[in-house]
Parts: sequence; structure tokens; C-alpha cells
Amino acid sequence: MVHDTQSLNKKRQDLSRWDEIWIFGYGSLIYKVDFPYLKKSPAFIDNWQRRFWQGSHDHRGTPDNPGRVLTLVEEENTCCYGMAYQVTVEEFEHLDHREKNGYLRFEIDMHLANGETKLGLVYIAPQENEAYLGPASEKEIAAHIFKSRGPSGENRDYVFKLAAALRAANEIDEHVFQIEKHLIELASPFKYHS
Ligand code: SIN
Repeated sequence: MVHDTQSLNKKRQDLSRWDEIWIFGYGSLIYKVDFPYLKKSPAFIDNWQRRFWQGSHDHRGTPDNPGRVLTLVEEENTCCYGMAYQVTVEEFEHLDHREKNGYLRFEIDMHLANGETKLGLVYIAPQENEAYLGPASEKEIAAHIFKSRGPSGENRDYVFKLAAALRAANEIDEHVFQIEKHLIELASPFKYHS
């Protein structure tokens, strides 16, 4: 699968027929909201986990030195916290462009803070996409992120901003927090030995 997914995404759902369109954000879509929305709510999705397994050629890295950003992987009996936004169909020109590096729109049930469940969309970068990097230890992932940067800025800021947003919501994500911890160690002038 190519890693510019814009034309694939346009064919995946006919959003003009949807009464309400909700999108679930689990990564940068939590802390960088550069699109208008009608409603916003904290939300959960079932059986998915965040992983820094996707390459970023366009935001937190470059084609020659891709950074590492999030995708979701399936894991039974877990849930993933995020932010749900109700948006209009017009926003997908921008959203599909922003998420073009390997992400496809999938339909998903999201559970909002008020107890309602909405069927909506989530951008997931599947294993078959060309920009996929796959698993590595949290220490290796941190070392990769530490040296990466791209048009949207330092790769490490993706982790720091997300970790801060999760903490502000009282959410724990050990994958994110471990990578954050390793990044802080790498950035310290006094080297830790752990
Ligand atoms: C998301 O935030 O929901 C998708 C991944 C990203 O753009 O960081």
C-alpha cells in the first residue's frame, strides 16, 4: 500500500451521506487541533493500543530520515483513551492531507464521556503501508525519536505534548510514558544509567 493515502481515503466512505461525522484522535489529533469542530468529547475505543510503529516522512521526519509516530494495533480486552470531534465533511480535505502518510480511515465505535456511543472514523496506519516501521523496544524507539525532526518540528515534541495531554486527563499509557522517560534521559546533560 502506497504511503500517500489521500485518494484511497476519499473512496473508503461516502461521508456526504452521514448524518453526523465523528473522528477519534489518539495521537497528535489530541493535542494539535488545527481544524474546526462542532463538538468535542473525551472518548475511548475498545481493543486498540497506541504504538510508535509508524514512520513519519512529512511531519516529524523527512523522506530520508523518517521519524516515528503513532498508529494503533489491535489488542483484546484493552481500551485506548482519546478525543472525539464532531466535524463537517469539508474538514476531510485537510484531515486526509494531514494524515496522508500511510493512514487509512476506519469506522469505529467510540464511547463518549457522557455515555453515548458514536460510530465514527479513526486514522490507522496498517502494517501493509510503505511507511510502516513496526515494533522496537521503547528504548530503541526513543533513540530514533530523539534524533528525528521534520516540517512539524522535533519528533520528541510529539511524545512530550501527547504525554502532557494524557497526564492532564489522568490517563496512563505505559508505552508513551516509557518512551518519554527515555527521551528525558537522552536529553539530560548528566547521563542516567538504567
Ligand atoms: C491521531 O492522532 O489520531 C492519528 C495519528 C496522528 O496524527 O498522530
